[in-house]
Amino acid sequence: MSLSATSTTLLRTCARQQLPTARAAVASCQRRDVSNKSSFDSPFGSSQEYTSTLKIPNFSKYSSNKSPRSNQVFSYFMAGSLGLASAVGAKATVQDFLVNMSASADVLAQAKVEVALGAIPEGKNVIIKWRGKPVFIRHRTQDEITEAREEKWEELRDPQSDEDRVQRPEWLIMLGVCTHLGCVPIGEAGDYGGWFCPCHGSHYDISGRVRRGPAPLNLEVPQYSFPEDETLVIG
Ligand code: FES
Repeated sequence: MSLSATSTTLLRTCARQQLPTARAAVASCQRRDVSNKSSFDSPFGSSQEYTSTLKIPNFSKYSSNKSPRSNQVFSYFMAGSLGLASAVGAKATVQDFLVNMSASADVLAQAKVEVALGAIPEGKNVIIKWRGKPVFIRHRTQDEITEAREEKWEELRDPQSDEDRVQRPEWLIMLGVCTHLGCVPIGEAGDYGGWFCPCHGSHYDISGRVRRGPAPLNLEVPQYSFPEDETLVIG
């Protein structure tokens, strides 16, 4: 047997003999730890001397004598009533707010304008004010209607047929605001027998369609109706 094998055997023998001793030492340390914990002396007094300062109030005098079911019914009733009252209050608040935000009577009165058409002779222009803007009303002659309808409107800058711009051929109604920068064009002027904007030289024809100049669009047609034969309502 070699020397190293002999020393290995000796080491194992020693370890086997010392193992029970080591286990006993560990167990004794653990016991000591436990006994140390239990004998810890707190600077604030031992656990036996501790007296709780926590005081739980007695609510028994507030408890109901009624059955739990009747208490539940009362709770549901109160919750429902409060919810209903809150909903009614919220509705009233929102309603008041919306009423305040809506247009006043004088603004609503301005929203529509009624015009008596019988006072406008054929071949004449009338300008009225509606919502702060000028509105052109033209009582067109038969020649003007024919001229406006014979035009090849598909080739215009803002293609629109005359039929699409009027409800009755003899009445042309438009906003008097140039679609370039908002000047007011002059009636019965320009190269196309309609309107001419002197600000930058836009020409409109007898249907209010742009024919020349920097304006990109035709004169705008507002909402209007004829509630009676001789009455026009704009707005
Ligand atoms: S505002 Fe009418 S042409 Fe410029």
